[in-house]
Amino acid sequence: MNLPERDARVLWHPYTQALSSPPPLPIVSAEGAYLFTEDGRRILDGISSWWVTLHGHGHPRLVQALARQAKSLDHVLFAGVTHPPAVELAERLSALTGLDRVFYSDNGSTAVEVALKMAFQYWRNRGERRTRFLALDGAYHGDTVGAMSVSGIPLFRDTFRDLLFRVDRFEGSIGDDVAGVLVEPILQGARGMRVHPPAFLAGLAALCREAGTLLIADEVMTGFGRTGRMFACDHAGVRPDILCLAKGLSAGMLPFAATLATEEIFDAFVGDRARTFFHGHSFTGNPLGCAVALESLAIFEEERVLDRVRAIGARLEAGLAPLRGIAEVRGIGAVWAVEVPAAGGYLAEVGPRMAAAALERAVLLRPLGNVLYAMPPYCLADGEADRLARVMVEIVREVLR
Ligand SMILES: Cc1ncc(COP(=O)(O)O)c(C=O)c1O
Repeated sequence: MNLPERDARVLWHPYTQALSSPPPLPIVSAEGAYLFTEDGRRILDGISSWWVTLHGHGHPRLVQALARQAKSLDHVLFAGVTHPPAVELAERLSALTGLDRVFYSDNGSTAVEVALKMAFQYWRNRGERRTRFLALDGAYHGDTVGAMSVSGIPLFRDTFRDLLFRVDRFEGSIGDDVAGVLVEPILQGARGMRVHPPAFLAGLAALCREAGTLLIADEVMTGFGRTGRMFACDHAGVRPDILCLAKGLSAGMLPFAATLATEEIFDAFVGDRARTFFHGHSFTGNPLGCAVALESLAIFEEERVLDRVRAIGARLEAGLAPLRGIAEVRGIGAVWAVEVPAAGGYLAEVGPRMAAAALERAVLLRPLGNVLYAMPPYCLADGEADRLARVMVEIVREVLR
């Protein structure tokens, strides 16, 4: 039996309908922007393996940092314990974001759960009754119950409606019972790579300030350069009260996340033991994640990565230009998308067709329904970015024929 056959007997894959999906790609190794299959194919990873891989797979500096850290300290609990990579990374993240406190966890959804519980308890500890969250239409913040509650994609959340807490969609005003407002700044990912002008984010931040509530920025996807700035909030000069980071935080090498907060928020938890933030995960502050994240930040600085992001983005944008007029082309930084006119939303029948057409051309793309997009790792060379755009153009023309 080959790998997909063995897989089919024992595995259950995320976001995958077992009956109608093609067999999973058997990937045995990866290097740079490429994945290598058991049967000898070399496939361009056009979506950074679900938006996580930053500098390319197996970046030698990250591999070394991981090995070095594994030899000295693999893991230790983070309650009542600290260690050098955790402190150093928190210092670096704080300097980069202007936020004072770092709470570690292990994936994007948990980063959001932490943010929600932190905001909720913040008001409670202050003796103020603010219990309601606002979030954007079509938001996506993850798949755990809290993250799902603030998310707004009906297909993913409606089955679980009775489990979720009440969240209202932001419609221009913020009531005095609102604990926090969640936003995927500048770029809404799972909604279909929708780009918002910086003025919207700046306006939202101003409204939060006016209403005296917390702005919670979910930069799980947009963080670490995807939009051409280190953080999407930088486009609008906005500093949120709480910031969620994951995915690219560890350059896509390890499950690792952080929720950052202001000193004012942290202060509300200081005092008697009942004020404690009773939240944590087994792998909170994992030293391997911290070490790889630190090395990734060093690569950012030393290898002028943001310049590369902008160059890749410019090539994708230019390469997709021939589609303007027949489909909607949009993007920012190194994330570029084409919305094909087709019905069906996330379940649009063109989605799997476009994915299959990409794979025939040795490119891994995973459309969001009728939205075909690229979010490549930053090691992509100019010629490879051109090829990626060319493949997207071919695919869209093929499905529209
Ligand atoms: C904006 C945003 N927040 C949260 C998440 C959830 O992250 P994870 O899949 O690591 O739980 C995602 C995942 O795509 C995301 O795009």
